[in-house]
Amino acid sequence: MITLPKGTKDVLPDNSYKWQFVENTARETAKVFNAKEIRTPVFEHTEVFARGVGETTDIVNKEMYTFLDKGGRSVTLKPEGTAGVVRSFVESGLYAGALPLKTYYITPCFRYERPQAGRLREFHQFGVEFFGSTDAGIDAEVILLAKTFLDKLGVKNITLYINSIGCKECRKEYHNALKAYLQKNYDKLCDLCKDRYEKNPMRILDCKNENCKAITENAPSILDYLCDDCKAHFDRVQSLLKAAGVEYKIDPKIVRGLDYYTKTVFEFVSENIGAQGTVLGGGRYDGLVEQFGGGKIAGIGFAAGIERLLLLLESAGDIPNDNNLTVYIAPMGDDARLKAFELVTALRGAGISAETDYMNRGIKSQFKYADKLGAKFVGVLGSDEIAGGVIKIKNMQSGEEQNVPFGSVTEFFR
Ligand code: HAM
Repeated sequence: MITLPKGTKDVLPDNSYKWQFVENTARETAKVFNAKEIRTPVFEHTEVFARGVGETTDIVNKEMYTFLDKGGRSVTLKPEGTAGVVRSFVESGLYAGALPLKTYYITPCFRYERPQAGRLREFHQFGVEFFGSTDAGIDAEVILLAKTFLDKLGVKNITLYINSIGCKECRKEYHNALKAYLQKNYDKLCDLCKDRYEKNPMRILDCKNENCKAITENAPSILDYLCDDCKAHFDRVQSLLKAAGVEYKIDPKIVRGLDYYTKTVFEFVSENIGAQGTVLGGGRYDGLVEQFGGGKIAGIGFAAGIERLLLLLESAGDIPNDNNLTVYIAPMGDDARLKAFELVTALRGAGISAETDYMNRGIKSQFKYADKLGAKFVGVLGSDEIAGGVIKIKNMQSGEEQNVPFGSVTEFFR
C-alpha cells in the first residue's frame, strides 16, 4: 500500500464539513471587515521567503521545502502566506490603488518540522494582510478581526497576548542591552542562539531550548526600550482594544518566529491542545513592502492554523454539520426505481439534496443506508404508492409519515 508522506493528512468525506465550517466562517468574517481574497502560487522563487521571512529564522534555516525545478531554478513551497502576498502586492502594482487595501487568503503551507499533535508538514492557514496604514486603528482592527473569527467559530478558553517589538531604531538599542545581558552566559547558549546573538539577538527569546529559556528568564524587556513613537503607537493600540472590550495580556517575550515584524505583535494561545497551543499569530511589518521594492508602505496581518483550530473545536465537540442529506428516496421494483430517478432529478434541480438506491438493496437496508447518510426524510416508493401517484415521506426525527402527490414533492421540501 502506498501511504501518506509523514506530516500530511487527508481530509476525508466524513470530516470535510468541519473544514468547510472553518473556511466559511473565515470568509464571512473577512467579508464583514471588507477584506478581499487574494490567491498566490503554492511555490515561489526561493528568495521570496529567504528575503521575506528572514535568514535567521528556523523556517528559512531548517524547514523550507526547497528544490531545483527542471530548469535549474530554486523554488520553495510556501512555508507561510505573507511573503507571497507582499510579492504580489508589489509586482501587481496594488500599492498604486486605493489604500488601505485589505486582503485575506486560505492556503496550504509547508514546513519540514518534526510532526506532532498540531504540527504538520503540510498545514493550512487562514490569514489576512492589510496594507497602507500606520494607524494604530488598523492594528486594533486586525486583532478584532481575529477575535471575531475565533468567537464566531465558538473557540473558548483562549488568551490574547500582545507585545510591541518596536522599530529599527529602538530595536538597535534593545539589541545592545540584550547582548550585554546575555554575554555572561554566551557559552551556555545553544549553537543556533550563538549564531542569533550576532545576527538577531531578539530571536533568542523565542528559543525552545531549556537552557536558553532559563538564561533569558530575566532578560531586559523590549517595552523599556521603545522610542516615543513606538510607545505612543502601542498605547493607542491598547486603548482601542479596551474600547472594543477585547481582553489581552502583555507578554514582552513574544517576538514571533519570523523576521519581518515591527511594532505590534500578537498571538492567541490555547491551553487545551498541548504544546502547539499558538492557534493564531501576527503583527505589523512596516518595512517588508519596501524590502520587496514597493516603497514605504506599511503592512499588518495574522494567520491562523486551521488544523490547530480544528483540534480545539473537536476537543470542545461542537462543529455544526449542515451537510446532511435532505431526502433519501427508497424505491421497490423497477417502476419505482424509474420514478425515484425522476424525483431525485427534480429535487436536485430545485436545490434540494436527494439520493436514491443504486445498489439494489431491500427496503430495510435502504433505511439503514439512509440513516447512515443522516437523511432528514425517507420517501418510500412501492407499487401501492406508484398506483396512487404518491410517495410516502417519513420524517426521520419525529417518525411522522405523510403521502405526498408526485407533483407536490419539490414544494414539500421547500
Ligand atoms: P506563524 O506563527 O509562523 O505566522 O504561523 C501562523 C499559524 O500557523 C500558527 O499560529 C499555527 O497555528 C499555524 N502553524 C504554523 N506552523 C504549523 C505547523 N507546522 N503545523 C500546523 N500549524 C502550523 C505566520 O505564518 C505569519 N505569516 C503570520 C502573519 C501574517 N503575520 C503577519 N501576517
